[in-house]
Amino acid sequence: MIQIKNKEEIALIKQAGNILHNTRMYLKDFIKEGITTKELDDLADKYIRDNGAIPSFNGYNSFPKSICTSINEEVAHAIPSKRKLRNGDIITIDIGVNYKGYNADSAWTYKVGDVSKLKEKLINSTHEALFRGIEVVKDGAYIGDISDAINSVAIKNDLKVIKEITGHGIGINLHEEPDIPNYGEKNTGEILREGMVLAIEPAFSLGRRDIEILDDAWTIETCDNSPTAHFEHTIVVTKDGCEILTGGIDG
Ligand code: CO
Repeated sequence: MIQIKNKEEIALIKQAGNILHNTRMYLKDFIKEGITTKELDDLADKYIRDNGAIPSFNGYNSFPKSICTSINEEVAHAIPSKRKLRNGDIITIDIGVNYKGYNADSAWTYKVGDVSKLKEKLINSTHEALFRGIEVVKDGAYIGDISDAINSVAIKNDLKVIKEITGHGIGINLHEEPDIPNYGEKNTGEILREGMVLAIEPAFSLGRRDIEILDDAWTIETCDNSPTAHFEHTIVVTKDGCEILTGGIDG
């Protein structure tokens, strides 16, 4: 059963989303060569708590830090560490914010200094896929419409969808029904209804799509070490479309 959230619940998720968006805007100026992912984690953790919320990922299934910082071939869930960002890296910052019991979830991929043309194309295409997916959302649309819109961007740009990364419902729990695959057929799957709150999150690879999980039991990376990008927004379905709760087209 996909939950329909009431006005009060949506208002709380919106608050969580605002704090998340502000955290990202605060953090992005620090994403530079030389900073460690642990330092980024500390900054985000403090910012979220100073704003009266809790970082959702901290302790989630025993995740040890407050954000995920996935560099280059790391697709998702990489644990902040002493690793320093280097010129030419791309890094995905994934943030979850819990405000008064309600969650918002959003990820963004950034360039560190000068990155290759291919990495730039990867980032731009994955960003485009997120917004193509968001565009088709409205009361009465199908989950498969989102999947197809995202997958079409990957095909057009000769990129591979990381199939293990899927969007999801969100609310009191970080991951709720339904799963939203980043590939699929139009007019299939469950029907979206006004008041559903969803996290939509395409992740694409420049090379192969198969992934492995590292010994830390968290970090997902591509088997062939191809770079990956990952963008995510939390949205609420409305009668004629949707409202993005975690920022906009620029982050
Ligand atoms: Co998510």
